[in-house]
Amino acid sequence: MTMTQSQTGIPLLEVRDLHKSFGSVKAVDGANFTLERGDCLAIVGESGSGKSTLARTLLQLIKADSGAVLYRGTDLTKLNSAEMRRQRRHIQMVFQDPYASLHPRKSVKQLISEPWEIHTDIVSKAGRPAKIQELLKQVNLPAYFSEYYPNQMSGGQRQRVAIARALALEPDILILDEPVSALDVSVQAQVINVLMSLQERLGLAYIFISHDLALVRLVASRVAVINKGAIVEYAPTDALFENPQHEYTRTLLASSPALYEDEDVSA
Ligand SMILES: Nc1ncnc2c1ncn2[C@@H]1O[C@H](COP(=O)(O)OP(=O)(O)OP(=O)(O)O)[C@@H](O)[C@H]1O
Ligand SMILES: [Mg+2]
Repeated sequence: MTMTQSQTGIPLLEVRDLHKSFGSVKAVDGANFTLERGDCLAIVGESGSGKSTLARTLLQLIKADSGAVLYRGTDLTKLNSAEMRRQRRHIQMVFQDPYASLHPRKSVKQLISEPWEIHTDIVSKAGRPAKIQELLKQVNLPAYFSEYYPNQMSGGQRQRVAIARALALEPDILILDEPVSALDVSVQAQVINVLMSLQERLGLAYIFISHDLALVRLVASRVAVINKGAIVEYAPTDALFENPQHEYTRTLLASSPALYEDEDVSA
């Protein structure tokens, strides 16, 4: 059932004609894209366009109405819950609000080691302290943070703990749903820098959901523009920003004036 080699030409993740409706609302309306190691695919679109629903449907947190989500060739939509639990370690999610996603009564070391209770083959009990230190280091936090609780940390520090926790399962793919929008502008850069250096070092693939187009232009290799559940444009980042093809994309770009501070848009 498992195929491990990307040399086989099988994409890391391939989404085929994915659909999810809530009553008459088409939250995901025929999504198609692929993701390879090292890619950063941004998903942009206005509020309510279906970005989070798409993310949750990829992870099988929401069941798709139809379509396929192929992780290294295995269709996740066809797995039973035990099989999905085993696959879930490969695709981890980081949410917008680290306050809500980190249990307030658990220390950082408990939060990071929790996933290892389910996925016992990643690190031995004896190896955990060292592995926790390594993960904290990867997100630029000092070792003593392992004893901290969420309320003893700043928003940016909490979000870096959430990233360390997601990395604890050694995933290939991180789905980041507005990972810095709840943070102060001054600390957004810290978290983004951590994410970018992790990607470079570990070859992670990111699905980066954001409404901040200037940030998307900085971090993404490709962009999917969603309007009412449908991907209306899907292009390499430079092409999308320099030569948007779809009317909706042009409207979205026009509503983000900060993008064009240094450019002549009248041309
Ligand atoms: N559990 C649900 N039940 C009913 N409708 C839902 C549910 N989840 C989402 N929706 C609807 O699906 C549509 C897409 O919502 P979604 O949260 O995916 O948008 P989004 O692009 O993530 O928005 P935002 O940028 O505000 O986070 C919306 O119309 C929303 O009301
Ligand atoms: Mg959302």
